[in-house]
Amino acid sequence: MLVLGIESSCDETSVALVDNSKKILANVVNSQISLHKQYGGVVPEYAARKHMSAIDTCIKEALKLAQITLDNIDIISETVEPGLVGGLLVGSVTAKTLAIALNKPFYAINHLEGHMLTVRLCYNVPFPFLLVLASGGHFIFAEINGIGQYKILGQTLDDAAGECLDKVAKLLGLEYPGGVNIEKLAHDGDPHRFYFPIPMKKRKGCDVSFSGLKTSARNLIQSGQYFDKKADIAASFQYTVMSFITKQTKKAIALCQSNIKSIVLAGGVAANKLLRGMLEKLTEENNLNFYAPPLNLCSDNAAMIAWAAIERINAGIPPSPITASVNPRTSL
Ligand SMILES: Nc1ncnc2c1ncn2[C@@H]1O[C@H](COP(=O)(O)OP(=O)(O)OP(=O)(O)O)[C@@H](O)[C@H]1O
Ligand SMILES: [Mg+2]
Repeated sequence: MLVLGIESSCDETSVALVDNSKKILANVVNSQISLHKQYGGVVPEYAARKHMSAIDTCIKEALKLAQITLDNIDIISETVEPGLVGGLLVGSVTAKTLAIALNKPFYAINHLEGHMLTVRLCYNVPFPFLLVLASGGHFIFAEINGIGQYKILGQTLDDAAGECLDKVAKLLGLEYPGGVNIEKLAHDGDPHRFYFPIPMKKRKGCDVSFSGLKTSARNLIQSGQYFDKKADIAASFQYTVMSFITKQTKKAIALCQSNIKSIVLAGGVAANKLLRGMLEKLTEENNLNFYAPPLNLCSDNAAMIAWAAIERINAGIPPSPITASVNPRTSL
């Protein structure tokens, strides 16, 4: 069974071909970073136009890489939620057109479900597990008991972790997307040089909040006193954010009702090596296994969308109606 996946919910146009033996035949990712970095963030209208001009080429390139034709495809899948509406519409219309023209089933996929299931494309990760989803637009702790069986344990009360890193990076004069640039700069900095107050200390549960951390970083940076210590600010801020996530993950483990065997880190921030190391240590201390996608599959890509469709098929879930609409604002 060969699935064509399309992802266009933010600033990557991606087309992938994945089969049910977990083989990724192609995963073409056309990033719009060079377009958006001059504005310091994604401009939704420009993103939609770029998706429109790139999508056909991405499909052709994916077919060429996999050395197949459209006739070899069994299923078409596409991100329909959540994301920027213009991009979602471009991907959705393209995928539905292909499904109708080729007379193949169509699977409408939730982008966050795609991030979450990527580890199962790469490794044998059994359910149930604790999901730590840290991306550019979302932060979620959830107990995952099977496909479609998700129990949200906690989430962000304001910004997502990636969004917070991107905003602080911008204040430091680093290019978009900021998370990876903070990580690079932090490499030469002292993580204990600056103190940022850890949020949610007295609050029960495992919700997170990043806006207070962002404000304290902004106050420090805008004070101008330490601007020659950018690497120390980046290192201290990264250390605080990742320690905070790890601390809340510990609380989330205690809230799980199923007998979880592993912790799964997913989303763009999962590429952060400090966070991966901290969570790996936490899982060892709790006799659990730790999984995160390989670095190239942490950020947006269509292989995760094609795979999410295969997971749905394997779970006996029927195809989506061809009338399935896009939903910019949903969660897992
Ligand atoms: N090495 C890294 N360290 C920390 N953050 C990172 C790293 N690499 C990428 N990020 C962050 O990951 C985010 C992008 O992740 P992703 O592509 O999953 O987000 P998105 O698709 O825009 O949002 P969502 O998945 O919530 O819809 C950005 O905020 C980026 O700064
Ligand atoms: Mg994403």
